[in-house]
Amino acid sequence: MRSLTIRDLSKTYFDAYAGSHVDAVRGVSLEVTQGEFVSLVGPSGCGKTTILNMIAGFIPCSGGEIRLDGRAIHGPGPDRGVVFQSFALFPWKTVLDNVGFGPKMRGVPKAERDRTAREYLELVGLAHAADRYPNELSGGMQQRVGVARALANNPEVLLMDEPFASVDAQTRMTLQEELTRIWQERRPTIIFITHDVSEAVFLANRVIVLSKGQILDEVDIALPRPRVWDKLHEDAAFKSLSGKVLQLVRSA
Ligand SMILES: Nc1ncnc2c1ncn2[C@@H]1O[C@H](COP(=O)(O)OP(=O)(O)OP(=O)(O)O)[C@@H](O)[C@H]1O
Ligand SMILES: [Mg+2]
Repeated sequence: MRSLTIRDLSKTYFDAYAGSHVDAVRGVSLEVTQGEFVSLVGPSGCGKTTILNMIAGFIPCSGGEIRLDGRAIHGPGPDRGVVFQSFALFPWKTVLDNVGFGPKMRGVPKAERDRTAREYLELVGLAHAADRYPNELSGGMQQRVGVARALANNPEVLLMDEPFASVDAQTRMTLQEELTRIWQERRPTIIFITHDVSEAVFLANRVIVLSKGQILDEVDIALPRPRVWDKLHEDAAFKSLSGKVLQLVRSA
């Protein structure tokens, strides 16, 4: 089985203002199997983004290692797609060209990458917006473009850092339902960072709770799928799992 293997990972930053070192990540080991959906939660500053940035290959590790299918990760690559809280779309490119950007960088010819981009826009419900520009879209729509753009590279792993944090509550619930549907259809491995405990539980198969750069605990989420809010928000098992994760986060 292919997987993402993180072994004894650490990251020390030098804080130039304080003139001291910060141990942001301290000996994290984690095995994520292909097709798993894992949420990472924990208090602000516990190292979530730092871990994600190391998996993405944006920053080097200070210690330990990260392997994807056995290959050590040393930098960014199309095998890992990233979606951030800020939409980070190219404002001068149409929605279609934003989504086709990764394939373009890999030398995919125009007709083929347009076809791929349209397929992923269809998947996120934005086929009608292909020729628009990002500033003509709502926040929720922009975030869907971000998801389509990450998926257009057909990554093995999708890394998401609070992707829905800046959209309104209703749109956010829709995006969460859409993401679980897309995950079920395509089964990429997903690592999803959030502050929102119910979001973490709603989405994932497993929630990892971090505290001060270390893994505090993890909770398996064996709720049935498809997951929809109409059913889950009153569901006893969902409430009990959310309560359990919340308690862990508050003790972190
Ligand atoms: N570039 C940097 N230089 C110095 N210190 C940093 C840097 N980036 C992060 N840190 C520190 O590392 C620790 C972990 O930060 P990180 O951004 O990974 O936390 P986080 O869990 O993502 O927090 P949040 O929930 O607020 O996004 C914090 O103490 C932070 O101040
Ligand atoms: Mg963060």
